[in-house]
Amino acid sequence: MNNFIFQNDTKVYFGRGCVKEYLRCLVKPYTTVMVAYGRGSVKRNGVYEEVVGILWDAGKEIVEFSDIMPNPTYAKVQEGARLVRENNVEMILGIGGGSVMDCCKAVSLAARYEGDIWEDFWMHPGVIEVEPVPLGVIVTVAGTGSECNGGAVITHEEKKIKAGRDYPKLNPKFALMDPVYTYSVPVKQMVSGGFDILSHMMETYFSEPDEDNVSDDIMEALMKSVIRNLRAAIQNPEDYTARSNLLWDSTMGENRIIKLGKKGDFQCHNMEHQLGAYTDCNHGFGLAVLQPVYYRHIYKDGLSKFARFAENVWEIPRDGRSDEALALAGLDALEEFIREIGLPTTLRDLGIADKAMLKEIAGSCGISAGSYRRMTHEEIQEIFNECF
Ligand code: NZQ
Ligand code: ZN
Repeated sequence: MNNFIFQNDTKVYFGRGCVKEYLRCLVKPYTTVMVAYGRGSVKRNGVYEEVVGILWDAGKEIVEFSDIMPNPTYAKVQEGARLVRENNVEMILGIGGGSVMDCCKAVSLAARYEGDIWEDFWMHPGVIEVEPVPLGVIVTVAGTGSECNGGAVITHEEKKIKAGRDYPKLNPKFALMDPVYTYSVPVKQMVSGGFDILSHMMETYFSEPDEDNVSDDIMEALMKSVIRNLRAAIQNPEDYTARSNLLWDSTMGENRIIKLGKKGDFQCHNMEHQLGAYTDCNHGFGLAVLQPVYYRHIYKDGLSKFARFAENVWEIPRDGRSDEALALAGLDALEEFIREIGLPTTLRDLGIADKAMLKEIAGSCGISAGSYRRMTHEEIQEIFNECF
């Protein structure tokens, strides 16, 4: 294993009824709380009413920050930061998925930082010396795992850059995770989030070092859990066991535990983020289109690991097959799963109609240093063209 330091500052309260049980106590030190949410799902499924009811009963002053869009923008971050300053908000409570949580993390920093956080932190990673506004989150969809890390992915619309940074100071102080809150997530978004979870695991698993290490073993168990529970939740969206496993799988994908000792290859995330910056496509959908094609490009550079993936995750017996035949059978199984759960398989399925723009998007993608084989912008363009 590579050397590492591990600490995670988010305290997790998980399970049915956790918001009712713990929220009041968690907001006790604060008078003015900013309630931040997306485009209305929390009002339709009753979560907003439950949360705001608890805050009213506790006598809190509530400041609303609503309409946070999927793929949150820097402009939205600035709007939130203004609200925090104007209303002397003492804590931010984000209710939603990755977009709400990421936007709130960036707001918590922007509100306390005098300069331009895009330039100083998202473009040129620095050391955060200011103390961000305390943030708590209530997770409503399984996917990004943003609740237990300091990562925030923000889109600068004018510059056409979607960039993520992970600062430990931006870890939420607490995360409330009630699997019942995810029952109302539409199947399309549930499978998108599910694939994002799988993608976080695959991107870490397919990277060095590959010698015997506990992180790879944990990831195999987690990937099997995602596959099994996604199938179960598609059958029955109110299957508490499946929803709770997916919700915790999602946290485990991005709470840094599986990354310990591994390099990580975030090439597909880099490519998807730039597709998102140009086209606003859905994060999990973009990954589902890119990942199998990317892996067909690089599998020969990590052959034995791809063969191990086929055997241990997809349970494909070796039956005298070579590593190469087995590796390809594993990638076939991944593609079949993507089709089975109804994810898109081409960029056109994502609504990207203009093939000509792919060259510029490819040129704007970051290159991952942890890949089995380092990509070039030309090869990224080839991958985009094959995905088209
Ligand atoms: O906006 P509302 O109306 O709330 O609807 C949302 C949104 O349309 C809906 N939704 C959420 N909970 C629901 C629900 N609908 C019904 N019932 C519920 N309980 O789901 C839609 C998608 O929400 P969003 O937050 O955008 O999805 P996701 O969690 O996939 O987050 C995606 C964002 O996170 C970033 C992505 O790049 C993207 O910007 N990521 C953040 C990461 C991190 N911070 O660690 C890592 C990831 O790799 C990712 O890059
Ligand atoms: Zn992701």
